[in-house]
Amino acid sequence: MVLGIFLLLMDIFFLPLHATDSEFIFNGFTGSNLSLTGLAQITSNGLLLLTNNTIEEKGHAFSPSRIKFKNSSGSGSVALSFSTTFVFGIVPQYPDVGGHGLAFAISPYKDLPGSMPSQHLGLLNDSSNGKAGNHLIAIELDTVKTIEYYDIDNNHVGIDINGLTSLNSSTAGYYESTADAFTKLNLMAGDATQVWINYDAASIRLDVRIAPFKMPKPGAPLVSSIVNLSDIALDEMYVGFSASTGAGSSHHYVSGWSFSTGGEAEDLDQSRIPSIPKKANTKKGRLVSVAVLVALALAGFSVLLILVLSILFFCHQRRKKFEEVKEDWESEYGPHRIPYVDIYRATKGFDETNLVGSGGFGKVYKGVMPKSRAEVAVKRISHDSRQGIREFVSEIASMSRLRHRNLVQLLGYCRRQGELFLVYEFMANGSLDRILFEEKEPSLNWGQRLKIIKDVAAGLLYLHEGWEQLVIHRDIKASNVLLDEGMNAKISDFGLARLYDHGSNPKTTHIIGTLGYLAPELSKTGKATTCSDVFGFGAFLLEVVCGRRPMEFCAGQDDVPGLVELVSEWWKKGKIFETVDLNMKGSFDKDEAELVLKLGLICSHPEPTARPSMRQVIQFLEGSIQIPDKSMESLGGSFRFASYDVSFDDFATSYPSTAEITSTSDHHRSSAFTDSC
Ligand SMILES: *[C@@H]1O[C@H](CO)[C@@H](O)[C@H](O)[C@H]1NC(C)=O
Ligand SMILES: *[C@@H]1O[C@H](CO)[C@@H](O)[C@H](O)[C@H]1NC(C)=O
Ligand SMILES: *[C@@H]1O[C@H](CO)[C@@H](O)[C@H](O)[C@H]1NC(C)=O
Ligand SMILES: *[C@@H]1O[C@H](CO)[C@@H](O)[C@H](O)[C@H]1NC(C)=O
Ligand SMILES: *[C@@H]1O[C@H](CO)[C@@H](O)[C@H](O)[C@H]1NC(C)=O
Ligand SMILES: *[C@@H]1O[C@H](CO)[C@@H](O)[C@H](O)[C@H]1NC(C)=O
Repeated sequence: MVLGIFLLLMDIFFLPLHATDSEFIFNGFTGSNLSLTGLAQITSNGLLLLTNNTIEEKGHAFSPSRIKFKNSSGSGSVALSFSTTFVFGIVPQYPDVGGHGLAFAISPYKDLPGSMPSQHLGLLNDSSNGKAGNHLIAIELDTVKTIEYYDIDNNHVGIDINGLTSLNSSTAGYYESTADAFTKLNLMAGDATQVWINYDAASIRLDVRIAPFKMPKPGAPLVSSIVNLSDIALDEMYVGFSASTGAGSSHHYVSGWSFSTGGEAEDLDQSRIPSIPKKANTKKGRLVSVAVLVALALAGFSVLLILVLSILFFCHQRRKKFEEVKEDWESEYGPHRIPYVDIYRATKGFDETNLVGSGGFGKVYKGVMPKSRAEVAVKRISHDSRQGIREFVSEIASMSRLRHRNLVQLLGYCRRQGELFLVYEFMANGSLDRILFEEKEPSLNWGQRLKIIKDVAAGLLYLHEGWEQLVIHRDIKASNVLLDEGMNAKISDFGLARLYDHGSNPKTTHIIGTLGYLAPELSKTGKATTCSDVFGFGAFLLEVVCGRRPMEFCAGQDDVPGLVELVSEWWKKGKIFETVDLNMKGSFDKDEAELVLKLGLICSHPEPTARPSMRQVIQFLEGSIQIPDKSMESLGGSFRFASYDVSFDDFATSYPSTAEITSTSDHHRSSAFTDSC
């Protein structure tokens, strides 16, 4: 009987408590038996460290067993009220560069299977995000702005239900009471910060507050949502924390945690909460110690103060000196960006002794990169319009992905106010133009010339056909061909002509290029095509063989015949070799020279569709197809730039094409040249 009453009392007083049985407190985590997965660990001084500086990783710490979240003793199953408070600290790897944040989470799983790091915070993945079946309730302390989840900023607190797009969120901070002003907090400052989360089942209201640790709980919530967790929660779930790192990383710490279903969570014992280490060797840390030093010096050592101030002044000047223009959209081109300070050091401050050239696009300096010691050429371009720079930078980024042994490799870029810097591999033997026209001795021999021609043809073919997108050079000429220490030729300045395009009014298309290399149709259509590049290449061929510029201007004489006309006239007289560069002193391979000269003429055909493609050009150069004599005979017409009415139909139709038809939407191909440029 007595035993019976005792058992009854036990039922009344202990069973309900036992049924919910969910109250616990950790004043530090030493000896706790949380279930840790991923990077999570308990440090020797009792901190729960969810992630360290390992990038693209996650860490989870959850209650070892499920906790009852619903009252099933009643009729339905209604979510219980709960209350929790914890202290956290986020210490980024570098000041202002960390990632990605920490979340308090209630989940059916203690290891959150399939969840991803970085913006997913170790909670979900792209396919599970937002699904009702997640039964996930989370409060995120997010330090990265993720556009796809509509994050408001890179320092916010949000309420997440089943997905990473917050139901409600707010910049981190607190209102001491409803009447008080908002005080902003920096989640990544590394300071111990306390969070209070309260869910009231009667009003189905979820409130979140944060405040610096040891401050009382703020009167007004930072962020709240009306959400009936009865529809979200399962009867029993795990409760804990998740954190993740992305490309940047932070140490995500929790130093104390109290949780309760039903009533208010027990207060943490402030004296027992371990402290969160600040990273000593961060720049911020150093600045702080500088500030302390200055304060001490103020007391007696004004001399020291002046010294420190002048150092600060120097730093400021220095920062100004190396200031760059960097916009949000540029972050995706990050890997291609080279710090201005490196470029400045490489060129010894753009010293005139390092100047190796200057042209239409600006000055070119030789330099040695400070870290890699790699020799580079830096092109310094001034641009006055902001307009179009974004498209241009995106093109630069794609240009630096172009890789071919006959293209000068673009290594990266940098931008300052009104200036753009392009960093290229350095070419020891400079431009072909200089060797052909400026240097007296030694001149290039025939073998070298032919190799240069083949190199340029290979580079141009790659631009036209070898890459995922068509690249038109628009300014093929000897001065845009550079030679490395082994006399291998590489094309430079590809894609650069576009800089002028982007900056200009699309209605006034102006032609980019150099007179003498400009295809005649450009003056009518204004549209550069692979055919107009082939025209420029034709002029280049004649230039290399004849050692003369395609147009030579003499004072007082405006009707000087171009190189194309000269070569074609000598060819008609049967004396094509008269045009070969005298610097070679007659020592050249006649068959090869004739082939190249004829090819130069065909490429310079006034009718774009009658020019061969670069693929065919290479086949001619390799001798795998022959230039038919009959076709050459039809080239008898005049090449005067003024008259393009010569009929080349015969030549075009008799042209034997072995290559298959390639489809390039840009070009209509009405001629018999199935594979014309
Ligand atoms: C760890 O948690 C389990 C489940 O809640 C419990 O049974 C066990 O006693 C705990 N162990 C320690 C050392 O606290
Ligand atoms: C981070 O922690 C993991 C697991 O505890 C460890 O293997 C790793 O070396 C740590 N990484 C760093 C950068 O400290
Ligand atoms: C559970 O539900 C019953 C009946 O609806 C109610 O009497 C009891 O107070 C509830 N318990 C909690 C912890 O809310
Ligand atoms: C995403 O998460 C779900 C649920 O945890 C898991 O079943 C699924 O395999 C994950 N998907 C991927 C692509 O990782
Ligand atoms: C978001 O939280 C704030 C602060 O508690 C509150 O004033 C606001 O009404 C909430 N917004 C929504 C949509 O719940
Ligand atoms: C919340 O949802 C549960 C189950 O759907 C329902 O019984 C309860 O009345 C709802 N609470 C409120 C305040 O609407």
